Amino acid sequence: MAEIISGRDIAATIIESDLIARVETLKAKGILPKLVVILVGEHPASASYVRQKEKFAERAGIISEVRRFEASVSEDAILNQIETINNDETIHGVIVQLPLPDHISVEKVLKKIRPEKDVDGFTATNVGNLFLGEPGHQSCTPKGIIRLIDESKTEIKGANAVVLGRSNIVGKPVGLLLLNRGATVTTCHRGTKDVDFFLKQADIVVVAVGKIGLVKGEQLKPGCTVIDVGINRTEEGKLVGDVDFESAEKVARKITPVPGGVGPMTVVSLIENTIEAAEAVS
Ligand code: GUN
Repeated sequence: MAEIISGRDIAATIIESDLIARVETLKAKGILPKLVVILVGEHPASASYVRQKEKFAERAGIISEVRRFEASVSEDAILNQIETINNDETIHGVIVQLPLPDHISVEKVLKKIRPEKDVDGFTATNVGNLFLGEPGHQSCTPKGIIRLIDESKTEIKGANAVVLGRSNIVGKPVGLLLLNRGATVTTCHRGTKDVDFFLKQADIVVVAVGKIGLVKGEQLKPGCTVIDVGINRTEEGKLVGDVDFESAEKVARKITPVPGGVGPMTVVSLIENTIEAAEAVS
């Protein structure tokens, strides 16, 4: 049976053994790290993520403020709000919770955020820094995934890593981070002809597609490490990932659960990025 990699426990340890102390150091210098979350409309999953973010911020001792807008808010109003936040020295990090209503351009919104305050790591500047392996805010889910893999004592250098999914938020950046750390990376997507061929060679598998039961145990290489980024709800209302956990845990050596795997690591990475942003101006 595979060892379970508990993101919940690792995130708690990061907060208690590192983040709280860093916040205390900043406070001693008169700096109170502050994160602002812009939430537009009533997306149920977004509301739940945002609550998680507030909870973790409180545990680490930073300020978090959620600025809520009706789904009908204009694009200009959001762009003006970001401009105000960009110029507010008491705010160190800002994120705009996605998805946004169709009439608001994600590209325009992201372009408006000052890269120093872009603690989601979504702006072109931060994505470019990640591409180059230069310092900058790393996008939170990929950063959390690398931390999970490291904490599970899985060697990244020299490993065959397969990423399923090519989104800008997870698939592409996590592939780059793994590559920067010396893995041989293959990114599979809906156009990939033979996903099983790649999975069979994979020492590390990252699944970020959003499809229940997409990967089963028999497709995996025995002894691999599996990181399941999927968050799906079954018809019975149960939260599950993209990996069929029951069969996969019989083949993998290490595997993340859903919930309690990648999710808490994403949130802790966001809080850490906000602290880093505050440290940079201290
Ligand atoms: N929606 C789903 N995941 C994320 C995330 O990491 N950041 C933001 N801003 N929106 C999201």
